[in-house]
Amino acid sequence: MTEPTRPFAHVDESPEDVRKGMLDYLDAAAAHPEIQRVRADALEALAPAAGQRLLDAGCGAGEVARLLRRLVGPAGAVTALDFSKEYVAAAAARHDGDPVDYVVGDITALDFPDGHFDGVRSERVLQHLDDPDAAIRELARVTRPGGTVCVIDTDWASLLFDGVDEAVVDELVTTIAGTGLWRNARMGRSLRGRMVRAGLRDVDTLPVTLRFTEADSAASVLPLVNRRFATPLAGMLPERLVTAFHDTVDASVARGDFLAAFTMWITVGHVFS
Ligand SMILES: C[S@@+](CC[C@H](N)C(=O)[O-])C[C@H]1O[C@@H](n2cnc3c(N)ncnc32)[C@H](O)[C@@H]1O
Repeated sequence: MTEPTRPFAHVDESPEDVRKGMLDYLDAAAAHPEIQRVRADALEALAPAAGQRLLDAGCGAGEVARLLRRLVGPAGAVTALDFSKEYVAAAAARHDGDPVDYVVGDITALDFPDGHFDGVRSERVLQHLDDPDAAIRELARVTRPGGTVCVIDTDWASLLFDGVDEAVVDELVTTIAGTGLWRNARMGRSLRGRMVRAGLRDVDTLPVTLRFTEADSAASVLPLVNRRFATPLAGMLPERLVTAFHDTVDASVARGDFLAAFTMWITVGHVFS
């Protein structure tokens, strides 16, 4: 076994097949109805309006930034920022519609003036960071007084299965927790407290539980269930455990009783005005 890495924290340092696999994973997740459900709720929370200047920090392939661009209209502006040069290039290559600023940058040290944006969002990014509170402080700093900060993240500690061998799942989850592969397994539930402590006002949070009754469908959103990631995972976790997990998922699929669920949290706060 090798030391576990957190590929989404350092995309450009990962091997090419892993980078490509992660981009495919982002695309599959973006197309999944459960992620679309979360994004629709998050959009309502951010409430983009015509003429606004918005930021999507940790934009991945940039599809949400392009949606925001359509919503703010010709007088608005959207910046799509990511730490990965490769993903920023991929996002820019997919561009259509009115211009979006695609920029490489670090969410914990943003190169924008104070109060530059009317609203900012960041989805499934803080869980990968060493200093997620620095990211919240930066998102708040670059948002104008009265503007909105919307952070969406997973709570991996809420992950549950049914239909599979509980002992295998318990061992797998405990092993992953011990490796640090999930840098911040409770990020989702902690967002509200982090934003309150960062001085944001009227902080509210919405839990959205995603559920999957088909393993193939779950694999689009849950890397653990995705066979494509079995080899890299087996490099970081005991191979027999990864194999035992896929075997018990297969048995559950054969019986038709597979179930997986976890909660994502959409948290919104406002900058003091
Ligand atoms: C799981 S992906 C989510 C991408 C996108 N928000 C989505 O929902 O599809 C995490 C993204 O965060 C980016 N990222 C990681 N660390 C970052 C940092 N310090 N600053 C900005 N982006 C970062 C990664 O490059 C990756 O694109």
